[in-house]
Amino acid sequence: MRNFEYWNPTRLFFGRGETDRVGQECRKYGERVLLAYGGGSIKKTGLYDRIVRRLQEAGCSVTELSGIQPNPRLSKVREGVEICRREKVEVVLAVGGGSVIDTAKIVAAGVCYDGDPWDFFTGKSVPERKLPLGTVLTLAATGSEMNRNAVITNDETQEKLVVKNPVLFPDFSILDPENTFTVPKDHTVYGIVDMMAHVFEQYFHPVPETPLQDRLAESIMKTIIEYTPRVLENPKDYDARATIMWCGTLALNHLIEAGLTGDWATHRMELELSGVYDIPHGAGLAILFPQWMEYVLPLIPKKFAQFAERVWDIPRGNRSDEDLGKAGIERTRQWFREIGAPTRLREVGIGEERLEEMAERVAKRGPIGSVKVLTKEDILTIYRRSL
Ligand code: NZQ
Ligand code: ZN
Repeated sequence: MRNFEYWNPTRLFFGRGETDRVGQECRKYGERVLLAYGGGSIKKTGLYDRIVRRLQEAGCSVTELSGIQPNPRLSKVREGVEICRREKVEVVLAVGGGSVIDTAKIVAAGVCYDGDPWDFFTGKSVPERKLPLGTVLTLAATGSEMNRNAVITNDETQEKLVVKNPVLFPDFSILDPENTFTVPKDHTVYGIVDMMAHVFEQYFHPVPETPLQDRLAESIMKTIIEYTPRVLENPKDYDARATIMWCGTLALNHLIEAGLTGDWATHRMELELSGVYDIPHGAGLAILFPQWMEYVLPLIPKKFAQFAERVWDIPRGNRSDEDLGKAGIERTRQWFREIGAPTRLREVGIGEERLEEMAERVAKRGPIGSVKVLTKEDILTIYRRSL
């Protein structure tokens, strides 16, 4: 196990009815609130009215940043920063999924920075402060509600990049599973793939002797596998939605990565796909992950054998680690198909055309992967095998 520092300052309020605290929690940080949300699902579900009412009852005034798209854009971030400055906003409140929360994070940090917020993504600058930030999560997926990451797409260059900085932890997040009852089946599935992929990124790594981290990761994976059919069959099953929601948060709040170095190459390869082709992040991950797994299997066969045995309950028989690992990977691909995720690039309309250009861009941005540092050729091979 490696040395580590673990710090997570986000205060969570989890459970039925917790949404109603939103006014009083925001008011602790200020009076003038920016309410950030997406394309309108919160208006259809009634959540918008409930939140505005609670904010007003707590004495807050509300300004809005609406229309944040999935794979959120830099232009929307810039618009948000301008609104905050003009309206002298004191608190940012994100109500939505990862796209809304990530936009709100960079708006909150961008207000406290004189330059362009894209500087945080190119490494020209680092966020040093942000406005207080609260979130009301409506889709279980990214873990953004309790982590220090944000992912934004530059509309002009189609670059989709991540910034990771402790300044970006939300100050508080409200996780009320009932707010996820209305997530449609496709986005429920993409969210589930995403959280599973986050665990994969931190489970398959080269650091020896991380037994507790392994068991924590395995328990999240097994729980996701067990509860996925329940949320798909009955989207209003409270305990199933609550369990999946908590899995999504724990999958990427830095806990299971303590003491090891996650791989994250598949995420880097996927962000290029969803940046250029605007596909859902979870769809790209379901396609790429089994291919990456097969590519690196010979480097850590024991870990893949452990995955097959402990997560998928595949009996070893007289198989080698590598053969057993292969069976685990095949089972993973089959599970993605069973729950309705794509497993081929062609299924989401991506062909050979830009694969080389994308592999080049990903490789150029610096070393990717801890199990294996992938070269441009490696990335291109994985993309091509995913076609
Ligand atoms: O925009 P609205 O109308 O609200 O509809 C959204 C959107 O169309 C809908 N939705 C959300 N909650 C709903 C709902 N529809 C009905 N009822 C509800 N309760 O779902 C659609 C997708 O929303 P989005 O926020 O895009 O999904 P997700 O949470 O999966 O976020 C994906 C984004 O996060 C990034 C991804 O790359 C992608 O850009 N990621 C962020 C990470 C982070 N900050 O840590 C890590 C991840 O690896 C990921 O890269
Ligand atoms: Zn992800």
